[in-house]
Amino acid sequence: MPIVSARGLVKDYGSLRAVDTVDFDINEGECFGFLGPNGAGKTTVMGVIHCFMPPTAGDVRVFGMDVREHPSEIKARIGVMPQDDSLDPDLSVFENLVVYARYFDIPKKTSAPLAGELLNFVELTEKADTPIRGLSGGMKRRLLLARALMNTPDILILDEPTVGLDPHSRRAVWEKMDLLLSQGITLILTTHYMEEAQKICDRVAIMDSGKIRETDSPAELMEKYGGTLEHVYLSLTGRSLAD
Ligand SMILES: Nc1ncnc2c1ncn2[C@@H]1O[C@H](COP(=O)(O)OP(=O)(O)O)[C@@H](O)[C@H]1O
Ligand SMILES: [Mg+2]
Repeated sequence: MPIVSARGLVKDYGSLRAVDTVDFDINEGECFGFLGPNGAGKTTVMGVIHCFMPPTAGDVRVFGMDVREHPSEIKARIGVMPQDDSLDPDLSVFENLVVYARYFDIPKKTSAPLAGELLNFVELTEKADTPIRGLSGGMKRRLLLARALMNTPDILILDEPTVGLDPHSRRAVWEKMDLLLSQGITLILTTHYMEEAQKICDRVAIMDSGKIRETDSPAELMEKYGGTLEHVYLSLTGRSLAD
């Protein structure tokens, strides 16, 4: 059974159809990517999966449960690294993790040692007492990753995890993703970087204007359409990923 499945998923914002009747299945333990330019509908699909908002129509199941019927059970088992920096600027690095754990009713005697472990994992131990404004962009992304792991999730959602990062920091985030995959977590990511999709994802769904045009492994897609993933994207949508 897939860990996430969607059939006929539609999401409207008023009169705008942001996600237009998409189907996908994500397998346990894989890294599944949604590849597409800004406005394609990627973040909206993530929001439905982690029960931030209900679908307008369609059937979406996570861990076998309907997102409309079991949002709290699903949320408890998903970690989300959001696209935007949503760290609390008034708190230190360490406090950001411990306070976040309260949303999951994790008591401090559990969250404090876990925060320490996760700061070690993302190589921010030395920054534990630093206020958020003292962090570089790459450090903030790593802290958001640590925060997303505070509820020990089975699925980790990464929304544009390396946007705006220099190549070194980008590779550091990819390394952590590899480690998490080797521990058996399921990763769902969105990206408009074809290099990221190619390096990290077992399978990608090519998204354009709220639709999924094709889903397969990067290697199969490149074989089928010839050339790079950018070329695949252009062939399928008539648009460039950079648009
Ligand atoms: N809360 C919202 N209210 C109205 N329109 C939205 C909202 N969020 C996203 N949109 C619109 O929905 C479309 C898809 O957005 P989004 O899912 O953020 O795409 P992506 O993550 O691929 O950039 C875009 O046209 C965007 O402007
Ligand atoms: Mg987005």
